[in-house]
Amino acid sequence: MKCILQDEEMSLIKKVELEGSKISGVSSLAQGVPWYGVPEPIQEFVMEKIRKGETNRYSIVPGIPELRQQVALRYYKNNSVEVDFENEIVITAGAIQAISSVLLTILEKDEEVMLLDPCYASYDGCIKLSRGNPVYSSLDENLDIDVQDVLSKINSKTKAIIISNPNNPTGSIFTIEKIKQILDAIDGKDIYLILDEVYDEFLYDGNFFESGINLYKKYKKNLILVNSWSKTFGMTGRRVGYFLADSNITKEVLKVHDGLVTCAPVHSQWAALASFEIYDRWIGKVRKELQKRRDYTIQEMNKLSSYIEFGTPKAAYFLFPRFKYTEKDYEECLKILHESKVALVPGSGFGNRGRGHFRICFGRDFDDLSSGIEKLGKYFNK
Ligand SMILES: Cc1ncc(COP(=O)(O)O)c(C=O)c1O
Repeated sequence: MKCILQDEEMSLIKKVELEGSKISGVSSLAQGVPWYGVPEPIQEFVMEKIRKGETNRYSIVPGIPELRQQVALRYYKNNSVEVDFENEIVITAGAIQAISSVLLTILEKDEEVMLLDPCYASYDGCIKLSRGNPVYSSLDENLDIDVQDVLSKINSKTKAIIISNPNNPTGSIFTIEKIKQILDAIDGKDIYLILDEVYDEFLYDGNFFESGINLYKKYKKNLILVNSWSKTFGMTGRRVGYFLADSNITKEVLKVHDGLVTCAPVHSQWAALASFEIYDRWIGKVRKELQKRRDYTIQEMNKLSSYIEFGTPKAAYFLFPRFKYTEKDYEECLKILHESKVALVPGSGFGNRGRGHFRICFGRDFDDLSSGIEKLGKYFNK
């Protein structure tokens, strides 16, 4: 028996997290897991649903109707875009299952999916699982999309382009104009732009992010939006997210979604529904605290500028520094893990452009963040 994915293709993020979990006293700044748990009002709502026995059975395949309706309503309130929640929204077991299901549906063997370099490590594996080939377009020197490069790589085998906006690991925000240029180029072709917006609420310094939903009506045939509650509501373990697309797309992807999971976990769908009662208040609190953590991280990591250099993330919750003294990020991160007990993600896990870098998540527990940075300081200065 042989899995289509090679051992080295298990995302480096999860590899480091796994390796770190075997060592006691590790400060993990690796996987993107927020410090907060699921907010109390959501917990209470879900507990009540469990007590009443309303979480025991499957939901319908696309997800609980009230939840899909709330997702659509939020887009209507925030963006004045009407979405037919019955036919255009599917609740999934997290953003990654949404992306996998879409890729399994649309890809034929050896078709290409374009990714930005660097980007979220797991996209690569999802493409290969779907028998496709990832093709990379490097971000420019400002960590922005090089639209001309993306367009020049589109060919008869291209089936999709996946963009995480805001981007993991760079914290870049891509403008809607750039997204539109890509959509204009694929308009009328059998190519999809999958926009993953899981970090849409984690913004710093008053930076503005414009959702792809504003382009949805015009580019419906080519645009698929993905989001989840993992990051915003501390639900990484609950596995709940969604994709939004034209009904001609959702009706095909639904068959794959059914074959994979039947429906997203029902207690998690209820949790997602309860999030709408507290959405803006909760996000406001999280954003304020994240801004403090980002500023703290930058301030402390700046003290290590003889060894590393980095840009200021505008969004998401990662810093993506470059080692000034080595290109061997994987070996160096393993050495740091074993010698100093800090788990970092090697940058090459995010694409070639990440070589020589490492990623830290500043949204982890503050004790891990402060002790991790302190240990890094001692490691570099030894
Ligand atoms: C850009 C991006 N998309 C998707 C995910 C996974 O989200 P989910 O937990 O909803 O599957 C992550 C997790 O780190 C991510 O960084």
